[in-house]
Amino acid sequence: MKFAKRMERFNTGIFSVLAELKRKETAQGKKIVDLSVGTPNIPPARHIIDALLKSAQNSKNYVYALDDTAELQEAVEQWYRRRYGVAIDPKTEMTSLLGSQDGLSHLGLTIADPGDLVLVPDPCYPIFADGPALAGAELYRMPQTRENGYRIDLRAIPEEVARRAKLMVVSYPNNPVTSVAPESFYRELVAFAKKYDIIVLHDNAYSELVFDGVKCGSFLQYDGAKDVGIEFNSLSKTYGLAGARIGFALGNKDVIGMLKALKSNLDYGMFLPIQKAAVAALTGPQDCVETTRRAYEKRRDVLVDGLNAVGWKIEKPKATMFVWAEIPQPFVSSEKFTLELLKRAGVLVTPGSAFGPSGEGHVRIALVQDEDEMRCAVRRIQESGILEG
Ligand SMILES: Cc1ncc(COP(=O)(O)O)c(C=O)c1O
Repeated sequence: MKFAKRMERFNTGIFSVLAELKRKETAQGKKIVDLSVGTPNIPPARHIIDALLKSAQNSKNYVYALDDTAELQEAVEQWYRRRYGVAIDPKTEMTSLLGSQDGLSHLGLTIADPGDLVLVPDPCYPIFADGPALAGAELYRMPQTRENGYRIDLRAIPEEVARRAKLMVVSYPNNPVTSVAPESFYRELVAFAKKYDIIVLHDNAYSELVFDGVKCGSFLQYDGAKDVGIEFNSLSKTYGLAGARIGFALGNKDVIGMLKALKSNLDYGMFLPIQKAAVAALTGPQDCVETTRRAYEKRRDVLVDGLNAVGWKIEKPKATMFVWAEIPQPFVSSEKFTLELLKRAGVLVTPGSAFGPSGEGHVRIALVQDEDEMRCAVRRIQESGILEG
């Protein structure tokens, strides 16, 4: 059989390698503390599950949804107004997504023809690059390194690259590097996009997972943002609904219109009981959001304080459900360090190089286990002696 070349980027990924290694270690009876994939383990609040169950009991709700219900549109419109002070017209400036992943994998198809240039952060959440690449786009990687505060530097983008680019993917709070962006960054971003006629996609998956009393907003709250781009938002982390696949695209109506047109040919909308769950999440009591935020903050403190105490110097992330850690000396390869860490300590993390060339020298540790597991990871890392080289 002959398969498409584009599949090559999915066959040999480090994530499959890690999964296989974990399987082998587990088969030998070893217990692995898995801090690799960002699957949240905090369940949704009861009222959200109840809304889903009630709607699923109604046999009329098994038809194709085709579109977002008026109730869902209103819930999203009000949540954006209440949470970020952003007004949107939910009929023309919003569409639901089957998770942000749906939008991230398909938006490129609406903007880029083969050979067109798309700007992506480096390192980045893999689908930021894989989505446009599936559309045949050429990628230009914008480094996010210690030297630039783990934030893309718009001034470092060469003039000829900016002129050619059609789409720029941006995301703060950022996975994997965990940085946030100041207001000045978003203002410069809008001006940059206008100057070079670039469509901006801001992925805002982690605006509710921000720590130490800081708050993050929305790209759409900045003047002119809606002229140049859109934002993706997701209920996966905010409300513990990752498996239900609930996300939204909001902003520029031309971009949203294109995405809707494509999606209407790919899927038939979001399952109606899931739309009900989304409405319950967005309009119901919000204390669950704070409970989730605090849980990640506590896990972060336990892990990072613990690792610092045993000699792995790591900065505390300001946001997200991840820790972005420089690998301890004398290691230079993040992949090698990850494999050693798994073998010697039974702790599984993701090598930074899996997120792009600028991720080398780091690992991403996902805060996806309870505090006790975080303590266990710290103890195992210390006892393994890996920090001594
Ligand atoms: C930055 C970022 N965007 C999007 C997603 C996917 O979100 P969803 O579950 O809404 O598809 C993730 C998941 O880890 C993520 O880290």
